[in-house]
Amino acid sequence: MKILITGGKGQLGRDLEKVLLNTGKYELTCLGHDALDIIKPGNVQQIVLTNRPEVIIHAAANTNVDQCELDKDSAYLVNALGSRNVAVAAAKIGAKLVYISTDYVFGVRSSHLTFVELCGRAIPYTEFDLPDPINVYGKSKLAGEQYVASLSNKYFIVRTSWLYGRHGKNFVKTMLDLAKEKNEVSVVNDQVGSPTYTKDLARFLAELIQTELYGIYHATNGGFCSWFDFARAIFQMAGLGQVKVRPASTPELNRPAPRPAYSVLDNYCIRLEGLPALRPWEEALQEFLSEIQE
Ligand SMILES: NC(=O)c1ccc[n+]([C@@H]2O[C@H](COP(=O)([O-])OP(=O)(O)OC[C@H]3O[C@@H](n4cnc5c(N)ncnc54)[C@H](OP(=O)(O)O)[C@@H]3O)[C@@H](O)[C@H]2O)c1
Repeated sequence: MKILITGGKGQLGRDLEKVLLNTGKYELTCLGHDALDIIKPGNVQQIVLTNRPEVIIHAAANTNVDQCELDKDSAYLVNALGSRNVAVAAAKIGAKLVYISTDYVFGVRSSHLTFVELCGRAIPYTEFDLPDPINVYGKSKLAGEQYVASLSNKYFIVRTSWLYGRHGKNFVKTMLDLAKEKNEVSVVNDQVGSPTYTKDLARFLAELIQTELYGIYHATNGGFCSWFDFARAIFQMAGLGQVKVRPASTPELNRPAPRPAYSVLDNYCIRLEGLPALRPWEEALQEFLSEIQE
């Protein structure tokens, strides 16, 4: 089966390439920003029509949440219109299209939650809940979803959250770097979500693309935590228990983009369809840390 990956040099793209190649089932064209710029419809058409993949995994995006808030045009150009360009090209050749989306398509509901609710009594979002993004990144990714759903009739929209992996910048790597120079770090404890290992998501996608079970999926590692809990788990599992984590609040950070207080995704359709569930986030983190320490 021939697969084309957009955003192929990003943190998910790099792990997708590795995981899909390891299955021995797929012929891959994995293109970075320099080789395939999704905001150029001509570039997208030319590559898709020449390669004629059976599946396109669209992982390219403007993922800098604060930058999206400050430069709305660029966010919509890449995440919304760029995704339209990919969807139009996929439809032309009848390819299956996987659009990687985000937990940040949700958020408004959680802005009224109390601390107790945040710590475990709030209700995770299912695929059948109406999106309610609170920042430009989430809104532009949702617009991308809408283009994909209206232009392709063989689509999987896969929402995931709090990604980390070996490649690129992410929270786990930032914490490990901070531990080299500090013995105390401040981390917010008023945002709750599900950390997800890119390799686990890639393995799930490798299964999903073989099916015709089209539609929206929530795909995250199991369980949830705050960024504060996540940081503590990283230090503990990495043998850096001496690094103290100080709880901070989101307003203290004063970042340009608002963040959802609670964006836990119920992997409801995975359960309903009997697809392989992603393991708990703690197990995935433990394996990731062992892998990068090797
Ligand atoms: N990271 C997370 O926590 C997270 C959470 C939920 C969902 N997601 C979604 O998961 C997907 C993969 O994210 P990731 O973490 O792998 O992000 P990433 O590392 O930032 O990768 C995204 C890639 O897209 C490329 N890109 C940006 N603009 C492009 C354009 N116009 N044309 C082609 N490529 C372009 C970037 O290249 P340059 O850097 O060279 O511009 C980058 O390599 C994205 O759709 C994201 O929205 C991510």
